[in-house]
Amino acid sequence: MAGAAQHAHWSSRWAFIMAAVGSAVGLGNIWKFPYEAGEGGGGAFVMVYLLFVFFIGTPMLVAELSLGRRGQLSPIGSMKKIAQDEKKSHWWSLIGWSGVVGAFIVISFYSVVGGWTLAYMAKAAMGTFSGIDAETAQNTFVGYISDPVKTLVSHFAFMAITIFIVAKGVQGGLEKAVTVLMPALFAILIILVIYSGFTGDFAKTIDFLFNPDFDKLLFKPNTAEAIAAGEPATRFSLDTVLQALGQSFFSLSLALGSIMTYGSYLTKDVKIGKSAVTIAAADSAVALMAGLAIFPIVFAYGLDVAGGGGLVFMSLPIAFGQMPFGIVFGTLFFGLLAVAAVTSSISLLEPPVSYVEEKTGWNRRKVAVTMGVAAGLLGVLSAYSQGTNLLSDIKINMLGLELDIMGVKDFLTNNIMMPLGGMFTALFVGWFVTRKNMMDELALSDKTFRIWYFLVRFVSPTAIGIIFGKIIFDNFI
Ligand code: PHE
Repeated sequence: MAGAAQHAHWSSRWAFIMAAVGSAVGLGNIWKFPYEAGEGGGGAFVMVYLLFVFFIGTPMLVAELSLGRRGQLSPIGSMKKIAQDEKKSHWWSLIGWSGVVGAFIVISFYSVVGGWTLAYMAKAAMGTFSGIDAETAQNTFVGYISDPVKTLVSHFAFMAITIFIVAKGVQGGLEKAVTVLMPALFAILIILVIYSGFTGDFAKTIDFLFNPDFDKLLFKPNTAEAIAAGEPATRFSLDTVLQALGQSFFSLSLALGSIMTYGSYLTKDVKIGKSAVTIAAADSAVALMAGLAIFPIVFAYGLDVAGGGGLVFMSLPIAFGQMPFGIVFGTLFFGLLAVAAVTSSISLLEPPVSYVEEKTGWNRRKVAVTMGVAAGLLGVLSAYSQGTNLLSDIKINMLGLELDIMGVKDFLTNNIMMPLGGMFTALFVGWFVTRKNMMDELALSDKTFRIWYFLVRFVSPTAIGIIFGKIIFDNFI
């Protein structure tokens, strides 16, 4: 990190791209995307997800990077400053607030799943998966997430790694590590796709992931009472579409201040438009490959596609247990997944840390430890809400879904704070920041700028507005 007057910067464009791809590619791609696609009914979910990534998410990446670079402060500080420069209401800083608070909530459960990957790396190395069948794989996972001691240890181990790196400054050794490890994860995913393709049910996977069935996406079964009262068996609902929208933001690290914070470390010479496309393409490729690696095994072994957050942990160990050198591949896979998770979790801790640092003037190490430990403690609730763990009986109803504590945190951030944050960010850059200032900041060609401007001015707010409007209408009117 080269020292600048008030704020540090990336050492090169490549370092920035790697850090941003590192932030984007993580548990969202390999843990969350496949199980959400499974629950969302497959192809139609994937298709809508990809449309959101390219028409809403990528323009939003551009918007957040440019806001961060203009503001040169934490998300809250940057939003405040830009609103002031543009002579607009200070209320716009709420976008920053929602990001910082959201990031704090997400890291609290992200670290729990990060801990699972560490534990699974150890299990793979010890040969736990050798010859494992579907049922044992399932029991192994549920047994593990239900253990109050093991889950606590792995969660805090993961958080400690995150704190350590954030305390040192994101750019330190991490820049170098990421350039080697991210490509390694990519390579091992390719091997897994090929292996599962040959040994699992590849044809069914392709059909499931790429043959869209919009009925599954857009219609939900009605409740028994409603049907008894003479309503049809299914009803039109945009709940799953909202899920896909939130997931596209989650996967691209949007609306939680992470990308804005990384943008604030950018120098003027970096081309934001091109970078955004690279980040989105790499991120989507990894998500699709994760799906292609996991579902052939899911289908071949009759696992439940809608089985939820344990999908990757219950499917891939079966493959590792049978393939040649499974111990090596299994250990590498979960190890690299842990690395991918760490490069994302540091970008989640970064927005709260950069804000508190700015506000208090404490040194970075002190802030990183304080915020990390606080988020870690909040995360214990998530860890203990899983399987048959101590708090697993607590279920909270959110818009008709019975969710555990981890589910509630995910729902609040993924389905509410992130889409709304994205909508207001789009409105802000599209309608409230002077057009000329955006043009100068982005330095895009005229034509590209016009496309981008149209997407953030009209497409994003309208699409998000319609999805939200429908859900509010369904639930509250
Ligand atoms: N994009 C990360 C992932 O897919 C998670 C993340 C979300 C990171 C939001 C930062 C901000 O795993």
